[in-house]
Amino acid sequence: METFDAKTHWENIYSKKALTEVSWYQKTPQLSLSYLKAFDIPKDAKIIDVGGGDSFFVDHLLDLGYSHVTVLDISEKAIERAKARLGERAHLVDWIVGDASTFNTEVQYDFWHDRAAFHFLKSPEDIDRYKKNVNDYVTKNGIVVIGTFSLNGPLKCSGIEIFQYSEESLAQCFSFLDKIDSKIHQHTTPFDTVQEFVFCSFRKTQ
Ligand SMILES: C[S@@+](CC[C@H](N)C(=O)[O-])C[C@H]1O[C@@H](n2cnc3c(N)ncnc32)[C@H](O)[C@@H]1O
Repeated sequence: METFDAKTHWENIYSKKALTEVSWYQKTPQLSLSYLKAFDIPKDAKIIDVGGGDSFFVDHLLDLGYSHVTVLDISEKAIERAKARLGERAHLVDWIVGDASTFNTEVQYDFWHDRAAFHFLKSPEDIDRYKKNVNDYVTKNGIVVIGTFSLNGPLKCSGIEIFQYSEESLAQCFSFLDKIDSKIHQHTTPFDTVQEFVFCSFRKTQ
């Protein structure tokens, strides 16, 4: 039996599918952007988009004047695509090709954002490593926003199984953080189907 290799899978996806051919595409990530306003995130905050792929979140962060933006993704191809789209502005961003649960950094972030990457982690070991990274790499009083498929959402994304969360189970998973709020969010895909997400926001007070 072939063993599943996440990096190979994602490099393959980003080599074959165009930006608007993936279910997670959104031109303006309204909900993600709304957290910056809601939590009054300052323009010099250190922000990381974990599993950011070639999402437009980074474009909007730059448009808004955020000056310390990092995008991390397991797929080099995804990062290349985001860089190519940004053109000259790409050098304003720190790019990390790495695994969210195993990457190392010297930096601590004030705002950790993850839309639709965390739910791909299924083994307790990977989930624990991801949580340790959140604990190690988020500043005291930093904000963490995680969005995953909900219990009413799809069971698979990009052809692979994900782990669904409820508002309660996602908050429970990150119980070492202080939950601020959670919401159910309906995402309309480019194919006009609807996927239900749950988003939880937290503050790291310890
Ligand atoms: C469904 S896409 C979402 C992309 C982006 N967050 C968005 O909202 O458009 C999932 C992304 O997570 C990345 N990914 C999957 N597993 C990862 C991991 N263990 N570490 C880092 N990135 C990962 C994939 O390469 C892909 O870009």
